[in-house]
Amino acid sequence: MIENNGSDADGPLEEGALTLTDSRTGADYRLDIEHGAVRAAGLGQVRANSEDPGLAAYDPAFKNTAACISRITYIDGDKGILRYRGYPIEQLAEGASYLDIAWLILNGELPTPAESASWRAEITGLQAVPDPLPRMLDGFNEDGHPMAMFIALLSGLGAQHPDSKNVTDAGCRAFHIKRLIGAAPTLAAMTYRRGKGLAPVAPDEDLSFPANFLRMVFGEDAHIDPTLERAMDVLFILHADHEQNCSTSAMRGVGSSHADPYSSAAAASAALYGPLHGGANEAVLKMLTEIGSKDRVNDFLKEVKSGSRRLMGFGHRVYKSYDPRAKIIKRTAYEVFEVTGRNPKIDIALELERIALQEDYFIRRRLYPNVDFYSGIIYEALGFPVGLFPVLFAVPRMSGWLAQWQEMLEDPEQKIARPKQLYLGYDERPVPAG
Ligand code: CMC
Repeated sequence: MIENNGSDADGPLEEGALTLTDSRTGADYRLDIEHGAVRAAGLGQVRANSEDPGLAAYDPAFKNTAACISRITYIDGDKGILRYRGYPIEQLAEGASYLDIAWLILNGELPTPAESASWRAEITGLQAVPDPLPRMLDGFNEDGHPMAMFIALLSGLGAQHPDSKNVTDAGCRAFHIKRLIGAAPTLAAMTYRRGKGLAPVAPDEDLSFPANFLRMVFGEDAHIDPTLERAMDVLFILHADHEQNCSTSAMRGVGSSHADPYSSAAAASAALYGPLHGGANEAVLKMLTEIGSKDRVNDFLKEVKSGSRRLMGFGHRVYKSYDPRAKIIKRTAYEVFEVTGRNPKIDIALELERIALQEDYFIRRRLYPNVDFYSGIIYEALGFPVGLFPVLFAVPRMSGWLAQWQEMLEDPEQKIARPKQLYLGYDERPVPAG
């Protein structure tokens, strides 16, 4: 908290505090430091005079603003550490299933075998989607972007669940969390099949979450290789949550108005769609296709260094070292290639990484491969079209969005999200006559 100490700014600072002097008034203030932050609201007490509304923190793009307290995901961007509920991502990706990780993210602990079994049964029982949704898809052209269809289908599913507006009821929230996690792969598969002019495939409750997804995409007769099923599950685990990124902030922001979770998830999906966020996996594949061969990598990087374009799949707001997810995905790619054959685009990606990591431009800016750099190469090897890649990101991120949404609604400090602005436009002026 902040308090005006008058002239006595040198008192004991038991908890750690920041002392400030307002040069406009000469008044001293003390801001307590809690968890490495000071409360921005306290700045509002710093006033030049009685009419002053108080000092605000100016932070475009929220580069240094904590908007919530969270206990779900921890990232240390300098050290390349990612943990869900304290567990290192490397260990979680080793043996767990995505559905168990979704439970962990939502509930704080790994499920017991009994919890895991009943959670799986509940989710698989909620995978089928009602009749009007396939008809909704008929309204899209076959070449419509799958992510646009996915966003619309989430809204459509929400329209089938008007009770989901009851967001302050914990039981109601719990049901719709399961419904959304269960329905996400079904909706995603439907967008793929719409693109091919194929009818949707109904979920098979006897299959694992990733195997059922692959079958709903590629058809009832598709052979689901266990290595590819596991690779899909690992990709789902790696994408499940990533604390306060753009789409999660959209989920929390829209959810803070008490919109239903389907609308909030549609908004989060729309945020994910952008090429600077989850759409980067699609952009990487297009970039690798455009580069075409290893010998053109240097020319491409010259363009990047000149500032005329970006090396997609590189750089991160938080990671200033190698994204730990990218390391696991790179390894998984080779396991997938054992079954599918090598995707030659990996050679272009490896060459881009090799050269970029030695170049001053990337070293000075601390730009490293992120989660999207290698994931698209796997998705392509598995047979997914590029337009589906952001949808493949959204399917598992659903559990992270919902965990963050739930945490936000259960936090008494959270209110409707409403940032301030610094208004620098015209002062009042009359409309010209005539
Ligand atoms: N290629 C070339 N230059 C880059 C890149 C890149 N990929 N990323 C950042 N820079 C440069 C940028 O031009 C700027 O240079 P300067 O200081 O000379 O102006 C500097 O590095 C800092 O960049 P920034 O845009 O201020 O950083 P940011 O934290 O706002 O952006 C980012 C983070 C992820 C949007 C950005 O690194 C980027 O556009 N990367 C490419 C897109 C991408 O791969 N996105 C996926 C992110 S990870 C998964 C996810 O969120 O879905």
